[in-house]
Amino acid sequence: MHTTVKGRSTTEDDITAEVLRRFEGTPDVRLREIVFALVRHLHGFVKDVNLTEAEWFSAIQFLTGTGQLCDDKRQEFILLSDTLGVSMVVDLMNHRKPEGATESTVFGPFHREGAREMPPGGNIAPRDDGGSPMMISGRVLDLSGRPIAGARLDVWQADSSGLYDSQYADRDELHMRGLFRTDSDGRYLVRTVRPVHYAIPNDGPVGQMLRATNRHPWRPAHVHFVVSADGFEPVTTHIFDDTDPYLESDTVFAVKDSLICHFVRHDARDDASQRLAIEPPFYTVDFDFVLKPRA
Ligand code: BEZ
Ligand code: FE
Repeated sequence: MHTTVKGRSTTEDDITAEVLRRFEGTPDVRLREIVFALVRHLHGFVKDVNLTEAEWFSAIQFLTGTGQLCDDKRQEFILLSDTLGVSMVVDLMNHRKPEGATESTVFGPFHREGAREMPPGGNIAPRDDGGSPMMISGRVLDLSGRPIAGARLDVWQADSSGLYDSQYADRDELHMRGLFRTDSDGRYLVRTVRPVHYAIPNDGPVGQMLRATNRHPWRPAHVHFVVSADGFEPVTTHIFDDTDPYLESDTVFAVKDSLICHFVRHDARDDASQRLAIEPPFYTVDFDFVLKPRA
Protein backbone atom coordinates (compact mmCIF):
# COMPACT_ATOMS: atom_id res chain seq x y z
CA MET A 1 0.00 0.00 0.00
CA HIS A 2 1.23 3.50 -0.66
CA THR A 3 0.12 6.87 0.53
CA THR A 4 -0.14 10.08 -1.43
CA VAL A 5 1.87 12.96 -0.05
CA LYS A 6 -0.18 16.12 -0.37
CA GLY A 7 1.35 18.98 -2.31
CA ARG A 8 3.79 16.91 -4.40
CA SER A 9 4.20 17.92 -8.05
CA THR A 10 1.62 16.23 -10.17
CA THR A 11 0.90 18.26 -13.31
CA GLU A 12 3.28 19.24 -16.11
CA ASP A 13 3.14 22.86 -14.98
CA ASP A 14 3.98 21.82 -11.40
CA ILE A 15 7.12 20.11 -12.69
CA THR A 16 8.15 23.22 -14.66
CA ALA A 17 7.62 25.41 -11.59
CA GLU A 18 9.57 23.00 -9.37
CA VAL A 19 12.50 22.82 -11.83
CA LEU A 20 12.62 26.62 -11.89
CA ARG A 21 12.57 26.69 -8.07
CA ARG A 22 15.58 24.36 -7.96
CA PHE A 23 17.57 26.85 -10.08
CA GLU A 24 16.60 29.83 -7.93
CA GLY A 25 19.83 29.71 -5.92
CA THR A 26 22.08 30.12 -9.01
CA PRO A 27 24.61 32.72 -7.81
CA ASP A 28 25.58 34.03 -11.26
CA VAL A 29 22.75 36.38 -12.26
CA ARG A 30 23.26 35.91 -16.01
CA LEU A 31 23.47 32.12 -15.74
CA ARG A 32 20.25 32.17 -13.71
CA GLU A 33 18.52 34.25 -16.41
CA ILE A 34 19.69 31.85 -19.13
CA VAL A 35 18.77 28.66 -17.25
CA PHE A 36 15.33 30.03 -16.36
CA ALA A 37 14.54 30.97 -19.96
CA LEU A 38 15.93 27.66 -21.21
CA VAL A 39 13.71 25.63 -18.86
CA ARG A 40 10.65 27.74 -19.65
CA HIS A 41 11.15 27.47 -23.42
CA LEU A 42 12.16 23.81 -23.39
CA HIS A 43 9.20 22.74 -21.26
CA GLY A 44 6.93 25.05 -23.27
CA PHE A 45 8.11 23.46 -26.51
CA VAL A 46 7.57 19.90 -25.24
CA LYS A 47 4.05 20.80 -24.08
CA ASP A 48 3.30 22.77 -27.25
CA VAL A 49 3.93 19.83 -29.58
CA ASN A 50 2.64 17.21 -27.14
CA LEU A 51 5.90 15.31 -27.52
CA THR A 52 5.53 11.51 -27.48
CA GLU A 53 8.05 9.26 -25.75
CA ALA A 54 9.17 7.88 -29.12
CA GLU A 55 9.77 11.41 -30.44
CA TRP A 56 11.66 12.38 -27.28
CA PHE A 57 13.85 9.28 -27.61
CA SER A 58 14.59 9.97 -31.27
CA ALA A 59 15.59 13.54 -30.32
CA ILE A 60 18.00 12.07 -27.74
CA GLN A 61 19.40 9.73 -30.41
CA PHE A 62 19.73 12.64 -32.85
CA LEU A 63 21.71 14.73 -30.35
CA THR A 64 23.80 11.70 -29.34
CA GLY A 65 24.68 11.12 -33.01
CA THR A 66 25.50 14.80 -33.43
CA GLY A 67 27.95 14.68 -30.52
CA GLN A 68 29.47 11.35 -31.58
CA LEU A 69 30.35 12.77 -34.99
CA CYS A 70 32.34 15.68 -33.54
CA ASP A 71 36.14 15.55 -33.47
CA ASP A 72 38.95 17.96 -34.31
CA LYS A 73 37.98 17.91 -38.01
CA ARG A 74 34.20 17.51 -37.97
CA GLN A 75 31.94 19.81 -35.94
CA GLU A 76 28.39 18.54 -36.35
CA PHE A 77 27.04 20.79 -33.57
CA ILE A 78 28.21 23.93 -35.42
CA LEU A 79 26.50 22.55 -38.55
CA LEU A 80 23.32 22.03 -36.52
CA SER A 81 23.43 25.55 -35.09
CA ASP A 82 24.12 26.97 -38.58
CA THR A 83 21.36 25.03 -40.37
CA LEU A 84 18.84 25.94 -37.65
CA GLY A 85 19.70 29.62 -38.18
CA VAL A 86 20.85 30.00 -34.58
CA SER A 87 24.39 31.03 -35.57
CA MET A 88 23.07 33.88 -37.71
CA VAL A 89 20.65 35.11 -35.02
CA VAL A 90 23.56 35.20 -32.54
CA ASP A 91 25.72 36.93 -35.17
CA LEU A 92 23.10 39.60 -35.90
CA MET A 93 22.48 40.37 -32.22
CA ASN A 94 26.18 40.60 -31.39
CA HIS A 95 27.56 42.49 -34.37
CA ARG A 96 25.33 45.46 -34.98
CA LYS A 97 27.52 47.59 -37.22
CA PRO A 98 27.47 51.33 -37.83
CA GLU A 99 26.62 52.44 -41.37
CA GLY A 100 29.51 51.67 -43.71
CA ALA A 101 31.26 49.03 -41.59
CA THR A 102 31.68 45.59 -43.17
CA GLU A 103 28.97 43.20 -42.00
CA SER A 104 29.84 39.90 -40.40
CA THR A 105 28.52 36.44 -41.14
CA VAL A 106 28.98 32.84 -39.95
CA PHE A 107 32.42 31.55 -38.99
CA GLY A 108 31.49 28.00 -39.98
CA PRO A 109 33.27 24.80 -38.93
CA PHE A 110 36.17 24.85 -41.41
CA HIS A 111 38.58 27.48 -40.09
CA ARG A 112 42.01 26.12 -39.11
CA GLU A 113 44.82 27.73 -37.16
CA GLY A 114 48.32 27.72 -38.58
CA ALA A 115 47.81 29.13 -42.09
CA ARG A 116 50.99 30.49 -43.69
CA GLU A 117 51.80 34.21 -43.77
CA MET A 118 51.92 35.20 -47.45
CA PRO A 119 53.20 38.24 -49.32
CA PRO A 120 50.76 40.36 -51.37
CA GLY A 121 49.59 38.22 -54.31
CA GLY A 122 50.43 34.98 -52.47
CA ASN A 123 48.58 31.99 -53.91
CA ILE A 124 46.37 30.11 -51.43
CA ALA A 125 45.43 27.52 -54.08
CA PRO A 126 48.80 26.22 -55.35
CA ARG A 127 47.54 22.67 -55.82
CA ASP A 128 44.14 23.47 -57.30
CA ASP A 129 44.51 22.84 -61.04
CA GLY A 130 40.81 22.57 -61.79
CA GLY A 131 39.74 26.06 -60.74
CA SER A 132 39.77 29.36 -62.62
CA PRO A 133 42.45 31.69 -61.26
CA MET A 134 41.10 34.63 -59.30
CA MET A 135 42.64 37.70 -57.68
CA ILE A 136 40.91 39.32 -54.74
CA SER A 137 42.09 42.84 -54.02
CA GLY A 138 41.00 45.89 -52.11
CA ARG A 139 41.75 47.90 -49.02
CA VAL A 140 41.11 47.75 -45.31
CA LEU A 141 39.72 51.10 -44.14
CA ASP A 142 38.42 52.80 -41.02
CA LEU A 143 34.94 54.32 -40.84
CA SER A 144 36.22 57.63 -42.26
CA GLY A 145 37.75 55.90 -45.27
CA ARG A 146 41.35 56.12 -44.02
CA PRO A 147 43.53 53.12 -44.94
CA ILE A 148 44.63 50.80 -42.15
CA ALA A 149 48.23 49.67 -42.69
CA GLY A 150 49.31 46.30 -41.29
CA ALA A 151 45.75 44.92 -40.98
CA ARG A 152 45.66 41.12 -40.92
CA LEU A 153 43.48 39.06 -43.26
CA ASP A 154 42.95 35.38 -42.45
CA VAL A 155 41.54 33.88 -45.66
CA TRP A 156 40.14 30.40 -46.35
CA GLN A 157 37.85 28.72 -48.86
CA ALA A 158 36.79 25.41 -50.35
CA ASP A 159 38.73 24.14 -53.38
CA SER A 160 37.24 23.93 -56.87
CA SER A 161 35.74 20.52 -55.98
CA GLY A 162 33.80 22.22 -53.18
CA LEU A 163 35.80 20.62 -50.36
CA TYR A 164 37.90 22.08 -47.55
CA ASP A 165 41.36 20.58 -46.94
CA SER A 166 40.16 18.98 -43.66
CA GLN A 167 37.49 17.01 -45.57
CA TYR A 168 40.14 14.88 -47.32
CA ALA A 169 40.75 11.89 -45.05
CA ASP A 170 44.19 11.22 -46.56
CA ARG A 171 45.57 14.78 -46.32
CA ASP A 172 46.79 16.65 -43.31
CA GLU A 173 48.44 19.69 -44.88
CA LEU A 174 46.80 23.11 -44.98
CA HIS A 175 45.55 24.20 -48.41
CA MET A 176 43.32 27.07 -49.59
CA ARG A 177 44.32 29.14 -46.55
CA GLY A 178 46.61 32.10 -46.00
CA LEU A 179 47.39 35.09 -43.81
CA PHE A 180 47.92 38.46 -45.51
CA ARG A 181 48.82 41.96 -44.31
CA THR A 182 47.81 45.27 -45.80
CA ASP A 183 50.55 47.59 -47.11
CA SER A 184 50.99 51.25 -46.13
CA ASP A 185 47.98 52.21 -48.32
CA GLY A 186 45.82 49.59 -46.62
CA ARG A 187 45.91 47.40 -49.75
CA TYR A 188 45.81 43.62 -49.91
CA LEU A 189 46.00 41.12 -52.77
CA VAL A 190 45.11 37.42 -52.57
CA ARG A 191 45.54 34.94 -55.37
CA THR A 192 43.19 31.98 -55.36
CA VAL A 193 40.70 30.14 -57.58
CA ARG A 194 37.12 31.18 -58.18
CA PRO A 195 35.01 29.64 -55.39
CA VAL A 196 32.18 27.24 -56.25
CA HIS A 197 28.96 26.47 -54.41
CA TYR A 198 29.22 23.37 -52.28
CA ALA A 199 27.08 21.09 -50.14
CA ILE A 200 27.80 21.16 -46.41
CA PRO A 201 28.62 17.73 -44.95
CA ASN A 202 25.32 15.85 -45.01
CA ASP A 203 26.25 12.26 -44.15
CA GLY A 204 25.31 12.72 -40.49
CA PRO A 205 22.36 13.82 -38.34
CA VAL A 206 22.27 17.31 -39.91
CA GLY A 207 21.96 15.73 -43.37
CA GLN A 208 19.17 13.50 -42.04
CA MET A 209 17.38 16.57 -40.72
CA LEU A 210 17.77 18.39 -44.07
CA ARG A 211 16.41 15.41 -46.03
CA ALA A 212 13.50 14.79 -43.64
CA THR A 213 12.45 18.42 -44.05
CA ASN A 214 13.00 18.61 -47.81
CA ARG A 215 15.82 21.16 -47.51
CA HIS A 216 18.95 21.29 -49.69
CA PRO A 217 22.49 21.34 -48.23
CA TRP A 218 24.02 23.99 -50.55
CA ARG A 219 26.01 27.09 -49.70
CA PRO A 220 26.54 29.75 -52.39
CA ALA A 221 30.14 30.25 -53.59
CA HIS A 222 32.12 32.36 -51.14
CA VAL A 223 35.54 33.13 -49.67
CA HIS A 224 35.97 33.43 -45.88
CA PHE A 225 37.82 36.27 -44.15
CA VAL A 226 38.64 37.32 -40.62
CA VAL A 227 40.01 40.85 -40.88
CA SER A 228 41.64 42.40 -37.81
CA ALA A 229 43.82 45.38 -36.87
CA ASP A 230 45.03 47.00 -33.65
CA GLY A 231 42.39 49.29 -32.16
CA PHE A 232 39.57 47.85 -34.31
CA GLU A 233 36.93 45.17 -33.85
CA PRO A 234 37.79 42.13 -35.97
CA VAL A 235 35.19 41.14 -38.55
CA THR A 236 34.42 37.51 -39.49
CA THR A 237 32.81 37.53 -42.89
CA HIS A 238 32.60 36.18 -46.48
CA ILE A 239 32.44 37.62 -49.96
CA PHE A 240 29.83 35.95 -52.19
CA ASP A 241 29.58 35.52 -55.98
CA ASP A 242 26.64 37.56 -57.33
CA THR A 243 25.84 34.94 -60.02
CA ASP A 244 25.37 32.05 -57.62
CA PRO A 245 22.02 30.21 -57.77
CA TYR A 246 22.00 29.58 -54.00
CA LEU A 247 22.25 33.20 -52.81
CA GLU A 248 18.54 33.21 -51.94
CA SER A 249 18.53 29.85 -50.18
CA ASP A 250 21.92 29.45 -48.44
CA THR A 251 21.39 26.46 -46.17
CA VAL A 252 22.97 28.38 -43.25
CA PHE A 253 21.17 31.73 -43.87
CA ALA A 254 24.48 33.63 -44.03
CA VAL A 255 24.08 35.86 -47.11
CA LYS A 256 23.94 39.62 -46.56
CA ASP A 257 23.44 41.93 -49.54
CA SER A 258 26.47 44.07 -48.69
CA LEU A 259 28.75 41.01 -49.05
CA ILE A 260 27.67 40.06 -52.59
CA CYS A 261 30.36 40.89 -55.16
CA HIS A 262 30.80 40.76 -58.90
CA PHE A 263 33.63 38.47 -60.04
CA VAL A 264 34.89 40.02 -63.29
CA ARG A 265 36.04 37.67 -66.05
CA HIS A 266 39.17 38.60 -68.05
CA ASP A 267 40.02 36.93 -71.34
CA ALA A 268 43.28 38.80 -71.98
CA ARG A 269 46.49 39.29 -70.01
CA ASP A 270 47.12 42.55 -68.14
CA ASP A 271 50.08 43.83 -66.10
CA ALA A 272 48.92 42.36 -62.80
CA SER A 273 48.15 38.92 -64.23
CA GLN A 274 51.46 38.89 -66.11
CA ARG A 275 53.37 39.75 -62.94
CA LEU A 276 51.69 36.84 -61.13
CA ALA A 277 52.00 34.54 -64.18
CA ILE A 278 48.25 34.03 -64.40
CA GLU A 279 46.91 32.82 -67.73
CA PRO A 280 43.50 33.99 -68.99
CA PRO A 281 40.70 33.36 -68.53
CA PHE A 282 40.90 34.58 -64.94
CA TYR A 283 38.69 36.52 -62.55
CA THR A 284 39.17 39.56 -60.36
CA VAL A 285 37.11 40.96 -57.54
CA ASP A 286 37.62 44.15 -55.59
CA PHE A 287 36.33 44.41 -52.03
CA ASP A 288 37.14 46.95 -49.32
CA PHE A 289 36.78 45.92 -45.69
CA VAL A 290 35.72 48.68 -43.30
CA LEU A 291 36.44 48.14 -39.60
CA LYS A 292 34.80 49.87 -36.68
CA PRO A 293 36.93 51.03 -33.75
CA ARG A 294 37.15 48.76 -30.73
CA ALA A 295 34.62 49.74 -28.09
C1 BEZ B 1 31.36 27.30 -44.38
O1 BEZ B 1 31.10 28.23 -45.10
O2 BEZ B 1 32.50 26.88 -44.38
C2 BEZ B 1 30.27 26.66 -43.59
C3 BEZ B 1 29.48 27.44 -42.80
C4 BEZ B 1 28.46 26.85 -42.08
C5 BEZ B 1 28.26 25.49 -42.18
C6 BEZ B 1 29.06 24.72 -43.00
C7 BEZ B 1 30.07 25.30 -43.73
FE1 FE C 1 32.66 28.00 -46.54
